[in-house]
Amino acid sequence: MKIVLIGAGNVATHLGRKLVETGEKVVQVYSRSLPNAAELANSLGAKPFDDLFGLTAKADLYIIAVSDDAIAEVVKKLGQMPLEEKLVVHTSGATPSKVFESAPTLERTGICYPLQTFTKGKPIDFSEVPICVDAAQPADLEVLESLAKKISQHVYHVNDAQRAWLHVAAVFVNNFTNHLFEIGHSILKKQQLPFEMLLPLIQETVAKLDSGSPKAMQTGPAVRQDWTTTERHLTMLNGRGDLQEIYRILTKHIKRTHADNWKH
Ligand SMILES: NC(=O)c1ccc[n+]([C@@H]2O[C@H](COP(=O)([O-])OP(=O)(O)OC[C@H]3O[C@@H](n4cnc5c(N)ncnc54)[C@H](OP(=O)(O)O)[C@@H]3O)[C@@H](O)[C@H]2O)c1
Repeated sequence: MKIVLIGAGNVATHLGRKLVETGEKVVQVYSRSLPNAAELANSLGAKPFDDLFGLTAKADLYIIAVSDDAIAEVVKKLGQMPLEEKLVVHTSGATPSKVFESAPTLERTGICYPLQTFTKGKPIDFSEVPICVDAAQPADLEVLESLAKKISQHVYHVNDAQRAWLHVAAVFVNNFTNHLFEIGHSILKKQQLPFEMLLPLIQETVAKLDSGSPKAMQTGPAVRQDWTTTERHLTMLNGRGDLQEIYRILTKHIKRTHADNWKH
């Protein structure tokens, strides 16, 4: 397959590398900044470009991997190019397929959303990344599924509604969890303790999920109904901005989630 990458950021970089590694040909890489496009393009044996209208119409697949807010604008521009018979996909979990409606000339559209957190300089085993695919036409779904299976062992057909909820879930388990790590980090820093002390706990919290559901693995004062401890913590967090509220909300939610267990 000849592929054009529109975007030269985190996802374009990781996806581009993996596609090339598996034998696909990335022919062009777009960025608004030519040096950015060139940096990725050179590593993939592709040509860089910084004007979308300089895009080749001779590729088979166009992957839009730009910031969510820029997808609509890029789609609109692609709609003005002779790409009627070409497959155009975006990589966003948060953006519905409706975004392609602004370019009715694009008849073959889809989504290829890799469900992982990507950062340019941080290597990742792409074969373990779940890839969520969807397409406007069944034949294109097959194309995307077979391409995705070349780069990952975990490929799912996920529709728009499912993907939107998947993204909400991803924000909870990744973005919010990481923010909780940051809270832990700042609490320890104030006590002149190293964050490394929490790392085995963090790692075991995730490792334990191999043995059972998150609900089954829950520990801590809220699930034990140790209300003296939770009250003590709330008192300690008095005057510490939002921390007391976050603690209270999460404790209440754990309590509700496990209320059924206590009835029996
Ligand atoms: N990072 C992740 O963990 C992750 C995971 C799954 C899916 N995604 C999705 O993948 C997509 C790309 O994310 P990313 O993390 O790779 O983003 P990123 O590293 O921030 O890169 C964003 C890219 O978008 C380009 N861009 C920004 N505004 C633009 C505009 N107005 N017109 C044209 N190009 C523009 C930037 O171009 P310049 O070089 O010109 O600034 C850059 O190449 C997003 O839809 C995101 O939701 C991200």
